[in-house]
Amino acid sequence: MSQNLSPIDAAKFAAAKRACDYVESGMKVGLGTGSTAAWLVRCLGEMVREDGLQITGVPTSSRTAELARQAGIAVTTLDEAKWLDLTIDGADEFDGELNLIKGGGGALLQEKIVATASDQMIVIADTSKQVDALGAFPLPVEIVRFGWQTTKALIEETLASLDVMGDTSTLREDGGAPFITDEGNYILDLHLNRLGNARQFGIVINQIPGVVENGLFIDICDIVVIGHHDGRVEVRDINAGTTEQGVVDIVETENLFSDLAE
Ligand code: A5P
Repeated sequence: MSQNLSPIDAAKFAAAKRACDYVESGMKVGLGTGSTAAWLVRCLGEMVREDGLQITGVPTSSRTAELARQAGIAVTTLDEAKWLDLTIDGADEFDGELNLIKGGGGALLQEKIVATASDQMIVIADTSKQVDALGAFPLPVEIVRFGWQTTKALIEETLASLDVMGDTSTLREDGGAPFITDEGNYILDLHLNRLGNARQFGIVINQIPGVVENGLFIDICDIVVIGHHDGRVEVRDINAGTTEQGVVDIVETENLFSDLAE
């Protein structure tokens, strides 16, 4: 119950719960990946089970697909849905223009495809994700496995000519073996420390053979919902140029919080 919820989870829950206000029956909704998005899936699942909300979810990872099914949300593929009303997802960093670094959970490729195929993208985050400038969080880049060491070397060589403060990268691992994405690729985490021109960076990196996609989301996010541990939420809409404050009741039910695996 609420006394068992850590401050960080309470903040993530508050953001997720507030973002649910944007979801209406009949919508096709992209479901993000990660610990914040998991709260969203639980909240939406509760609305489906208890309030009769009728939505079709398009998960951005196999993990989210499983969680959504468990929560009672009807899921389909992006190819079936074709275009979505809304995608709600977490982020590793967001800046003042709502540009993002994503992929800390390794799902950046599906996340970017799904968010781009949506009328609107809402990011849900706790306050720790807010930055003045992107780049402190290692930038995930999805690369194909074939010749990955050559791709890594080419990326590092390219970093030297870009407006960044670091030029090293590490292959993401999972239990001592390379982490494999849902698409069967590897992830390289780029230690940039500071990223001067994110827009240009994303274009240049994606031109390197072997690179599938990078975790920079530029001009994709429309709204960010920032949650605080005490239930306060701030909603920033980059298109409307508005910022709204509100409060979410940190009220829990056994159904909603029975699965805290993610
Ligand atoms: C998943 O690949 C990521 O893009 C996540 O959205 C991001 O890492 C945020 O995850 P948390 O909500 O777990 O911090």
